[in-house]
Amino acid sequence: VAVIAITGKGGVGKTTVAALLVRWLVSEGRGPVLAVDADSNANFNELLGVTFLSTVGGIREEARALVKIDPGMSKQDFLGMKIRQALVEQDGYDLLVMGRPEGPGCYCYANNVLRDSINQLASGYRNLVIDCEAGMEHLSRRTLLDIDYLITVSDPSVRGLHTAGRISELLEELRTRVRHRCLAINKIGAAEQPLTARQQEAVAGSGFRDIFFLPFDPAVAAMDSTGGSVDGIGTDSPVRKGVAAMMRKIIIEGK
Ligand SMILES: Nc1ncnc2c1ncn2[C@@H]1O[C@H](COP(=O)(O)OP(=O)(O)OP(=O)(O)O)[C@@H](O)[C@H]1O
Ligand SMILES: [Mg+2]
Repeated sequence: VAVIAITGKGGVGKTTVAALLVRWLVSEGRGPVLAVDADSNANFNELLGVTFLSTVGGIREEARALVKIDPGMSKQDFLGMKIRQALVEQDGYDLLVMGRPEGPGCYCYANNVLRDSINQLASGYRNLVIDCEAGMEHLSRRTLLDIDYLITVSDPSVRGLHTAGRISELLEELRTRVRHRCLAINKIGAAEQPLTARQQEAVAGSGFRDIFFLPFDPAVAAMDSTGGSVDGIGTDSPVRKGVAAMMRKIIIEGK
């Protein structure tokens, strides 16, 4: 399984990119995909156009409160079953919503078993797409999986680019292993418009070697105003093409 994690500061377009990525993987026959919403303010489902009933956080609370399980069923089996029930099953992909994060230093039994169940579940997929919460801390606590492709999304602002650099740096200090990392600068004005000298400096200082540009796309704004899924973004819209080009470079050409 290839693990693709989307990170970056708040509001830069992580969930939009993550949803477009799931669509791209499925349309290219690169499923089955497991979409994981690791943002406690879960809305990955909205951009995918589906609804969910339960979250991993909810299951953890339930398991903690639980005294008696059916005789003949271990807690491990019970939690594994609950996780499978929480999956939103779609054509080519499934969605799992993490929900409320565990508190810091939560090493409760249910949590460890849940991690095992999720890691085991993940092995049944070809690709995992994790929509992370803004910032980096959660990524390390929420999964024990190594990351194959870490996509840090940023807006083109100089401050935003600096933040992207810091997020990437922070990762170096974490236990999580990352095979490939890249920077996706989203909401770029016009594709041919070069970055200003200050922006270029910020990009150079961010420490990323692989940089991709995703255009600002009115189709995304239009979709947003109606609250629809990314299916409202036409197949030949600039941002969809940008995501496809980025994915081809990263995954197929192995950049
Ligand atoms: N390429 C784009 N062109 C135009 N608008 C965009 C583009 N990408 C994202 N947006 C808009 O930016 C806003 C934030 O997008 P999104 O929710 O995907 O960001 P996020 O990083 O997941 O935010 P959060 O940190 O709150 O989870 C939305 O209004 C979205 O429609
Ligand atoms: Mg989001």
